[in-house]
Parts: sequence; C-alpha cells; structure tokens
Amino acid sequence: METKNKGVFTGSIGFVLAAAGSAVGVGNIWRFPYLAARDGGGLFILVYLVLVVTFGFSLLVTDIAIGRKTGKNALEAFGEIDKKWDFLGKITFVIPAIIMTYYGVIGGWVLKYFVDFVTGNAAETAQDGYFTGFITSQISPIVYMLIFMAFTSLVVYAGVDKGIEKFSKLVMPGLIFMVIGIAVFSLTLRHTDANGVTRTGMQGLAVYLIPDFTGLTASKFLNILLDAMSQLFFSLSVSMGIMITYGSYVKKEVDLNKSITQIEIFDTGVALLAGVMIIPAVYVFMGKEGMTSGPSLMFIALPKVFQAMGTAGTIVGIIFFVMVAFAALTSCVSIMETLVAGCMSMFKSDRKKTSLVIAVIYAVLAAVICLGYNVFYFEVTLPNGAAQQQLLDVMDYISNSFLMPLIALITSIFVGWVIKPKWISDEMQFNGENFGRKNMYTIMVKYITPVIMAVLFVQSTGILNMIVNIFK
Ligand code: PHE
Repeated sequence: METKNKGVFTGSIGFVLAAAGSAVGVGNIWRFPYLAARDGGGLFILVYLVLVVTFGFSLLVTDIAIGRKTGKNALEAFGEIDKKWDFLGKITFVIPAIIMTYYGVIGGWVLKYFVDFVTGNAAETAQDGYFTGFITSQISPIVYMLIFMAFTSLVVYAGVDKGIEKFSKLVMPGLIFMVIGIAVFSLTLRHTDANGVTRTGMQGLAVYLIPDFTGLTASKFLNILLDAMSQLFFSLSVSMGIMITYGSYVKKEVDLNKSITQIEIFDTGVALLAGVMIIPAVYVFMGKEGMTSGPSLMFIALPKVFQAMGTAGTIVGIIFFVMVAFAALTSCVSIMETLVAGCMSMFKSDRKKTSLVIAVIYAVLAAVICLGYNVFYFEVTLPNGAAQQQLLDVMDYISNSFLMPLIALITSIFVGWVIKPKWISDEMQFNGENFGRKNMYTIMVKYITPVIMAVLFVQSTGILNMIVNIFK
C-alpha cells in the first residue's frame, strides 16, 4: 500500500532528473541572471559558486539523507527521528504551502508570453507597459494561471513514478539543449544603436563574467552575499521539505554522493547558462542600463531583445518561453507533490482525491494572488527594506526570506548537535561509498550554517538594521 501510494524512483537517473526538475525553474532562468547583473556579474557568480559547493551542498545532503534514511516525507521525517522535533516538519511544510500560492501565477505569466509569441503577438509584448498592463488586468492572468495549475495537477495526479519521473526524463535533457543553443546564439549577437555605438555578445559576456570591484564596500559585499544565499535556497529547493520527500523515494542502492553532485552541477549549470543566454543579449540591445531592470528583466527586456533579432527573434522567443514554462512546471510539480504527499499521510487519503482537493484550493488562493495587482492592490515596505511590494512579494518574502533561513538554522542545530552529523554521513556511506566532503559537511552543519543562517535571518527580518541603528 505504502509504495503504491507514495511511489519510488526507478533508479538514480530518475531521481537526479526529478530533483533537478524541481531545482531548475524560474529561479535559475529569471532570478539568477537579474541578480548576477545587478550585483556586478563576476563577483556574484564567484560568491555563488563558493556557496553552492559548501553551503548548498550541506543543505542538499541534510535534506536528501534525512528523507532516504527515514523513508518519510518532510512532515513526518523529523518526528520519526525524534518526537520532540516533530514541530520542525510542521513548519517546513508551511513553505511549499506558501510558495504554491504564487509559483503558478508566475508560471501563468510565462505561459502568456509563450502564447503571445506563438500567435504572432511578439511585437506587442515588446511595447512599453505591456507586462504591467497584463498583470494588472483582472481576467487574463487568472486564466493563464489556471491552465498552468491544471498541467501541474495532472502530473501530480498521475503519481510519482509514472508522472514526475517520466516527465523529468523528457523535459530536463531537452531543456539543457535549448539553453545551450540560445546561449551560443546570444554570444554571436551584434547591434549598433541609434548613437552609432556597436556592442557585441562577447563584450556582453565579459560584462557578465568579469568581476567589477570598483566602489566595492563591505556592506555592498554583504548584500551580494545575502542575495547569493537566498538565491541558493530558492534555486536548489532546499530547506522546504521538497528534497526530504524526494529523498524518501530514492532506493537504498543509489549512491547519494554522486546524485547530489549531479544535482548541484545541473542546477548551477542551467543558472550560469541562463545568464549567458540573457545578459549578453540584453547588453547588446539595451546597454548596461538594460541590465539593472531587476525582477522585470525577463518579461520586459527580453521581448525587446527578441524583437530586435527580427524574424529569428520570434522563433527564439517561442523556444525560450516554452523552455521556461517547462522548467517552471517541473518545479511547481515538486511543490505540489510535497503538499500532496504530506496531506496523504496526514489525512490517510489516496493520491487522486488529495491531488484534486489541493488543486482546487490552490486555484482559488492563486487567483487571490493574481488579484493582488488590481482588486487587492497595495504597496508595503517589507522588514528587509524592500519597498512597494504586493501580495505576491509578501508571500515570497515570508517563505524565502523569513522561513527558509529559520528552518535551515533549526535543522542545522538539530543535525549538528542533537542527532550529530554522523547520523547523516552514515546514510551517505550506506553502500560503502566515499562521502568526499564529510569533514567539510560536519563543520558546515555544526558551526558555519547556524551562524550564517542566524545572520541572514536577523538581516532579512530587519532586526540587524535595528541593532545597527541603535549603535549609530
Ligand atoms: N527551485 C525552483 C527554481 O529555481 C523553485 C522552487 C522553489 C521549487 C521552491 C520548489 C520550491 O525556480
């Protein structure tokens, strides 16, 4: 009964692809490039890479090993190890529950652009105010969100082995090919603007990769570090129970060390390539000013870039948006799968009924988020200082900037000091494998992660600023 409801990945490839499918999403393709551009290219990338192999690795190991060793989903895993820590599973469950309210909304936006490009509306999307006009309209964003959520629900409804694994096996390799293709295309671009200035893709690549240390201060560096760290959480789908649930589907004979390294390479590789695909192109057509447009980079600047490419731009645009839609879909599937697995065990219900109920609930909640740009419009300043934020940003803040560092902090205390790192490393060496970064893992989980997480938490909640102001 257990396996029938819960499912098992057929092998390590299935697991790696499904985990990579969860990790690779709008985080890599939309969020990483704009942060890299904003934070000075090369330096951000360097910081991010160091964090991936140390910090990101430790978080992935912790989640996946806990999942496989207990064989339980995130909701039950902590209580299974130690009754007193059952609460940790409960707060972990809150993160996918929050992310699910808005991830489908972004998925819908991507779908909308894909449909626009397919139906010959590409030129319109490149016009000023098009994106704002779209998200502030009442019906259209909800319709696209519902289509996106319907696809997501279908995959989850079909079950983990038939649904997610098959889906990821198909989508992930295709995704890689497409990203590489467009990245190479971006590098060959050349454009002369109205002032007669010619910029090339290779120059754009230099801007993207070469660190710019001019005007770098300690506080700027701290911001880059914090940006890179929050990106790491979001991008690797760690500390939110998802990798625990996926870990519980992995067979004992799979070498977790290899799988985890592959997931790291996959996720980081796609992010880096997405940067090559987007940043040089934006630089070529819009110069350095175009690179600072932040979160709107993908939806506002890229259609302009595609338009400037002429006929080829429409085709490139179609490929691009279908690719992002797929990446977003596999990520959204992982979020919903975690919720479904949790509710199945909580309510002792079957997969099909649980998926349906959750699909309906979230269709309603996500519609409310869509209306956050019109009916429920407001502007708030969040404790981390971000101004003019709407409903979607508030949900994003609660999950990514508030709960994730908090959960990573508590989890590392639990693993580092209560069950001890050996509990994890035993699982990593279950079949006598070589847990290569064992010593680093121990130091990370016992000392470095708790400290960095505490700093991140007080920074993102605004407590750090309050303290700094008191001593000023
Ligand atoms: N990691 C995914 C991305 O990079 C997003 C995601 C967030 C997936 C949270 C699951 C949970 O887009």
